[in-house]
Order: sequence, then C-alpha cells, then structure tokens
Amino acid sequence: MAIDPKGRAKPGYDRHMFICGHERPPNSSRPSCKNRGSLELLPRIKQVAREQGLSSIRVQKSGCLDFCENGISCVVYPEGTWYQLSKDMDIASIIQHLKDGTVSTVNLMKLDSE
Ligand code: FES
Repeated sequence: MAIDPKGRAKPGYDRHMFICGHERPPNSSRPSCKNRGSLELLPRIKQVAREQGLSSIRVQKSGCLDFCENGISCVVYPEGTWYQLSKDMDIASIIQHLKDGTVSTVNLMKLDSE
C-alpha cells in the first residue's frame, strides 16, 4: 500500500471532524455556515490540534451538512456527534473530543425535534 504524506500506510483516522464551509448569497432564504465564520474557526481548531500533537485525527471543511439553521454545523466521526459551533467559541472542549471522544455537551447541536 502507498504511504500518505504523513507517512501513514493505513487509511482512516481515530476521529474525523467536518465543519461546514458552505456559503450562500447574503439575500438567501437560508443561512450558511461560511457567513457565520466557519472558515475562520476551522484553521483555529486545526492549529490547536497540530500544537497538541494530535496526529491520528483530521479536521476538514465540508459542503453543506443540511442543518444550516443550526450552524456553524459540525460533525465528528466515528461517534457521529453533531455540534453547533460559533466563530469565537472556546475550542478546548472540541479539541478534547478529538483527543479522546469526550463529547462537548455545551456545543451539542440542539434540534427542534428534541
Ligand atoms: S450551510 Fe452549513 S449546514 Fe448548510
């Protein structure tokens, strides 16, 4: 098997975080996560993960995750935990989830059906 740029011979991550980077025009009927600052938040999370040496995780921009009204939308696998993030949030608890799977209860996405 080929080796990836990080020297890994096996695909997959312990945790994989997707943060919506979708953008809609300002006059759109629905909000979008980029307009709420998702693409400013994403590099902050990546930077702290890097500083803490988290090598078996991946944080990536995604397209629309369909829960636009609850954005900034974020999901972490393998737990399948959905978060509602904000641009200026304290990211410590999200980093903790990436480290060991501890769910950040303060950032859980709250859905109308709950
Ligand atoms: S625009 Fe982010 S979830 Fe749809």
